[in-house]
Amino acid sequence: MENAKRLSAERALEFVEKGSVVGVGTGSTVRWFIEALGREPGLIKGAVSSSEQSSALLRQRGIEVLDLNAEGPLGLYVDGADECDPQRCLIKGGGAALTREKIIAAASERFVCVLDASKRVAVLGRFPLPVEVIPMARSHVARELLKFGGQPVWRDGVVTDNGNWILDVHGLSITDPVALEARINQIVGVVAVGLFAARPADVVIADGVVVAGSV
Ligand code: A5P
Repeated sequence: MENAKRLSAERALEFVEKGSVVGVGTGSTVRWFIEALGREPGLIKGAVSSSEQSSALLRQRGIEVLDLNAEGPLGLYVDGADECDPQRCLIKGGGAALTREKIIAAASERFVCVLDASKRVAVLGRFPLPVEVIPMARSHVARELLKFGGQPVWRDGVVTDNGNWILDVHGLSITDPVALEARINQIVGVVAVGLFAARPADVVIADGVVVAGSV
């Protein structure tokens, strides 16, 4: 599994342009991408990071962390996912970084998703869908999410980099990810939902092989 993640992350280096600013996601797969970038000093100007965790790793590898407001739009964003369907729609947010990940994905021309093949599914939803919420809205949002047929569970003890909380929605079978993303976004108190469907990945690399999207 770890080798599959590493192979995908290293393959993503092919998409990096010399001297560019690269958007960098969060998680155990992207960690390999950061390591690979660190082995090529001078390849990139710097990175826009999706989490405090990735910022720390980037700095440890000598890569400057830059501000999206100053550097965007970006040419490339590289990140992992928790699930990926055949249309390249994703569930993300297992690491609680979904909101910043969504912002960088939206502000990037190309989103390269790196994962191990076990995360490829026919229908999204086996992995509980993360929803970042304003803390005072937690119970309200949970009641609204019940209407979609899933069971929201508070990720107790987790505070996001933005100071918010996470509800994980279990038991969904997401046959129309674009519609569900839009509906959850409408709930007052939701900051972001970990469905990446309106803006899916452009390229998917699984076990080091480009399985979807153009090169
Ligand atoms: C972080 O919030 C997530 O979106 C990650 O990108 C996702 O959970 C994949 O993480 P791993 O690469 O650790 O599986």
